[in-house]
Amino acid sequence: MSRKILVTSALPYANGSIHLGHLVEYIQTDIWVRFQKMQGHTVHYVCADDTHGTPIMLRAEKEGITPEALIEGVHREHSADFAEFLVAFDNYYSTNSEENKTLSQGVYNTLKANGKIGTKTIEQFYDPVKSMFLPDRFIKGECPKCHAKDQYGDSCEVCGATYNPTELIEAYSAVSGAAPVRKETEHHFFKLSDCEAFLKEWTRSGTLQGEAANKMGEWFESGLNDWDISRDAPYFGFEIPDAPGKYFYVWLDAPIGYMASFKNLCDQKGLDFDAYWKADSDTELYHFIGKDILYFHALFWPATLAYSGYRTPTQIFAHGFLTVNGEKMSKSRGTFITARSYLDHIKNPEYLRYYYAAKLNPSMEDIDLNLEDFTARVNSDLVGKYINIASRTAGFINKRFDGKLNPSTNNPVVAELKAAATQIKEAYTAREYGKALREIMRLSDVANGFVADKAPWVLAKQDGQEALLQAVCSDALEMFRLLTLYLKPVLPKLASQIEAFLQVEAMQWTHVDASLCATHIINEYQHLITRIDPKAIEAMVESNKASLVKTETLAKAAPAKVADAGDYITIDDFSKVDLRIAKIVDAQQVVGADKLLQLTLDIGEEKTRNVFAGIKSAYDPETLKGRLTMMVANLAPRKMKFGMSEGMVLAASDERGGPYILSPDVGAQAGMRVK
Ligand code: MSP
Ligand code: ZN
Repeated sequence: MSRKILVTSALPYANGSIHLGHLVEYIQTDIWVRFQKMQGHTVHYVCADDTHGTPIMLRAEKEGITPEALIEGVHREHSADFAEFLVAFDNYYSTNSEENKTLSQGVYNTLKANGKIGTKTIEQFYDPVKSMFLPDRFIKGECPKCHAKDQYGDSCEVCGATYNPTELIEAYSAVSGAAPVRKETEHHFFKLSDCEAFLKEWTRSGTLQGEAANKMGEWFESGLNDWDISRDAPYFGFEIPDAPGKYFYVWLDAPIGYMASFKNLCDQKGLDFDAYWKADSDTELYHFIGKDILYFHALFWPATLAYSGYRTPTQIFAHGFLTVNGEKMSKSRGTFITARSYLDHIKNPEYLRYYYAAKLNPSMEDIDLNLEDFTARVNSDLVGKYINIASRTAGFINKRFDGKLNPSTNNPVVAELKAAATQIKEAYTAREYGKALREIMRLSDVANGFVADKAPWVLAKQDGQEALLQAVCSDALEMFRLLTLYLKPVLPKLASQIEAFLQVEAMQWTHVDASLCATHIINEYQHLITRIDPKAIEAMVESNKASLVKTETLAKAAPAKVADAGDYITIDDFSKVDLRIAKIVDAQQVVGADKLLQLTLDIGEEKTRNVFAGIKSAYDPETLKGRLTMMVANLAPRKMKFGMSEGMVLAASDERGGPYILSPDVGAQAGMRVK
């Protein structure tokens, strides 16, 4: 029976880049979604940027742009990162949308009508200079335990102590530096304590993993507190309908963002929103989240839904945190790796998808990305085992039989591979990806054993073995087809290349029962995948370290030099330079040039600029396409050997390295002037 399934991943904050930790979640969810779609179920996978709150408001202010401009830039960046990692959302939206505003206000109004909203006057820290209430994270001071300076309001990064911001010594506002004062304000609360019976019942209904249900038990034991859902202006978010100057706390409207993204998809595709969200819905709803946000999804969220007339989630799937080389991701060790940095250095996203899948199981345990093991595993499993089956056999079919197959009828290895389908399907269903991949690799070993045993390269040299050679290679390709089908949720791009090579339609799970038949013709085999070069890993780690070290050493090594009067330029001199944000729309090698790349730059004018830049030694032109950089737009055009150069791109270098082209911060757009 075809099921109707709505799946979400947690909404990433719109104030930072996607990193390899985030990707554990999005890759885990995407694999499950692709697998369920291959089963023939109707699946919608939605997500969005989580855009509201104080940090985003303050960051936009610091950058001198509106929060809307900031979140628009980040939305573009996040969307590109996810697309390149083959995370295929059916909709990637924003919590700062009309749909979300309407839904959030509706939820609030219903909760209120159901007596679940109250108000209380509380005391909070207030920045008298900036005239705003301060979240704990924006209060700093001396740690009351170890006396380290400049620690955050909730915990000390030096000794690990946790405390209340009131306990900080010489507290100050991280926004203005002023000493915070305590000030009364009326807040709106969701009466979570009223929902205890419902939540206990819900916890027992099988919605949560065992570990998560245990956590809930602990929370019930320590007692449920009412949830503070309002914040005072200034705040970037939605205003509370009946309380001017009060805004919904970001965590109220964030999960409603799941609904809003789906609503937006419904309007695009003509789907029935209510069928998925009304209280008696017979569709399924799954949330993939990290263990750090379980409290929000297992307590606040089901209670919010239940008391505002909506259905509750079918299941919540919480995963653990990513460590790199056994430790927390760290900027100083170079292991805080962004999605973009991985793509720049390692390029192929499917290596990471494969490695994460091999490590994932349904528990909340942390998972480790060991970079040496990553290289070894990918090279040995994907290249050495799986692809090897095709690379050792396809050539004979192409060259000796014009691409025509003629498989044997009763190959026991093919039968064994087909028989494994049920077990692999069960493993994927249960999010036991590691188990599924172990089985698939075991089958790859069996298939390789078959090829080694029949040795087509020997048969090819013997007379009268043509028919056997064709049958052996055809059977091996049938095995390769089955393995590809099993791996498709994890390696969707490779699978689609292989579908083209084998000339078969897009693989569905039912195609396990099909077969490549006699007379089927395959395409020319092309090299499908290369080994990971350990040097690329080293370079990635180095470059993530580099950016940090560089700023540190520069700050230390070069105390500001007070220039002689003769060294200065006037502001008028400076303003003669038309510095502009430029988008690199194309980048090409220049035939015959050692140092140059040819760039096509969009600077917000009708015509793009053609610029030759001496950055060939440091950049692969492919990785530059789509990037933003800075250029001098009013440099007199210069005729060069290879053509006209219409401006200059800014890049930094010295004996320590480079050239490094400059990039603007998130939010900047092509054509903006640098002032
Ligand atoms: N905005 C909230 C979620 C709102 S959902 C209604 C948030 N954002 S986040 O950007 O911090 O994290 C997004 C998801 O990525 C979360 O599920 C989080 O657990 C996950 N991860 C973030 N860092 C991670 C690791 N280092 N490892 C594994 N998952 C990680 O929380
Ligand atoms: Zn301390």
